[in-house]
Amino acid sequence: MDVIVAADRADLVKARDALGEGSLALVPTMGALHEGHRSLIRLAHEHADHVAVSIFVNPLQFGPNDDFSRYPRTFDADLEVCAEENVRVVFAPSADEMYLPDRQIGVSSGEMGTIAEGAFRPGHFDGVLTVVLKLLNLVQPDVAIFGQKDAQQLALIRRMAADLNLPVSIVGAPTVREPDGLALSSRNRYLSAPERATALSLSKALRAGAAEATPSAILRAARAVLDDAARLDPPLALDYVELVDPKTFKPVGEAHEGEAVLAVAAKVGTTRLIDNVIVPISG
Ligand code: PAF
Repeated sequence: MDVIVAADRADLVKARDALGEGSLALVPTMGALHEGHRSLIRLAHEHADHVAVSIFVNPLQFGPNDDFSRYPRTFDADLEVCAEENVRVVFAPSADEMYLPDRQIGVSSGEMGTIAEGAFRPGHFDGVLTVVLKLLNLVQPDVAIFGQKDAQQLALIRRMAADLNLPVSIVGAPTVREPDGLALSSRNRYLSAPERATALSLSKALRAGAAEATPSAILRAARAVLDDAARLDPPLALDYVELVDPKTFKPVGEAHEGEAVLAVAAKVGTTRLIDNVIVPISG
């Protein structure tokens, strides 16, 4: 079946009519679709009768020094991926369609949006939550799928759905990795071969941390790998490595029991990468 491309609210209404009966899952994306997105779409098929994908590079979630203008835009290839994965509707609005010129109201990500990743990207999570709420309002899915790769984003979207009583189920999908451990990301395509070799230190640090049992040992092991990576050529420039509570993203103490998220963010050359792993801590 052909993919229906909807560019605005009116197209979306027609697309919903064309789908007929059945539940709908939405996979929100910024395009540049890769194997990780394919896994989100496949998971979406397990949760609903029909799958929609949104493709929108959201200006609101990029800071002045972020990569908005160079963010990869590969719409034709993305449509092919969607067709191959039996996506029924692709919602691809323009920025003018999404945002009124005199826009006043947005979603605040609260304190949780200002810590960990949020401390390095002021306003980023407000922009993410605002666009996600708008996409959910426009597409009106029963289920929405987000990758665990953006763990704080997923936690904040779950929090928004709970705090604002959104009538949608939020489903998290596991991170997809290259065989050597590199987490798939649309930004990986910026990396030169030597930069990619250095970038492997992120997943290596997470594996080293996850092999330990206590919060202090986990962080020590991860930091040791990242310290070595700072001496590579090209070097890894660490923004943070933190062990945080999966729901609040506040750092966990030595007495923490249960799951924690070991999260890392670093720059290699001009490319900023994030990764994380869930670590069980038995106390
Ligand atoms: O994870 C992403 O690709 C984006 O942050 C999202 C959720 C599509 C919002 O723009």
